[in-house]
Amino acid sequence: MVKQVRLEPIGQTMRVEDDATLLSVLLHQDLDVLKECGGRGMCATCHIYVKDGMTSLSRMSRREQRTLEVITSCRSNSRLACQTRVKGEGVVVELPPGMYVQSIQDIEVLIGRRADQNLLHPVTGKILVEAGKLVTRSMLKQLKSVNFEVAHYFNNSHGV
Ligand code: FES
Repeated sequence: MVKQVRLEPIGQTMRVEDDATLLSVLLHQDLDVLKECGGRGMCATCHIYVKDGMTSLSRMSRREQRTLEVITSCRSNSRLACQTRVKGEGVVVELPPGMYVQSIQDIEVLIGRRADQNLLHPVTGKILVEAGKLVTRSMLKQLKSVNFEVAHYFNNSHGV
């Protein structure tokens, strides 16, 4: 059976097949989701907030729970879109503000410009550059030590 999912703050309502992942909903809307880990529940680039309808979604796995624990922007209504399936009606999803960066190069191209939204770490969700801040070379130098690799985090924090 087809279910409805609403996306905020863009105000779109979508009809999806029963059991579809929220990630497929986001991708269908051409939303820029990095899927850094390929939809395996190991990064934060598909992190969303469930504004309504939490009980209409699949249960959280241990892996999802563990990944969410390291995201600084995690709240009680956080889910990973790739791990969450739509089971019922009334689901309202809110997209976290900000853009997940994949590598230092993503930030490098913004040197001399103001970030028009928060730039976020792909695994931890930590704000690397705040919206409105001028991106400078010295800022980039500081960020050079930041590890963007999902595999690195997975090996160290998930014990696999
Ligand atoms: S795409 Fe990486 S956790 Fe969903």
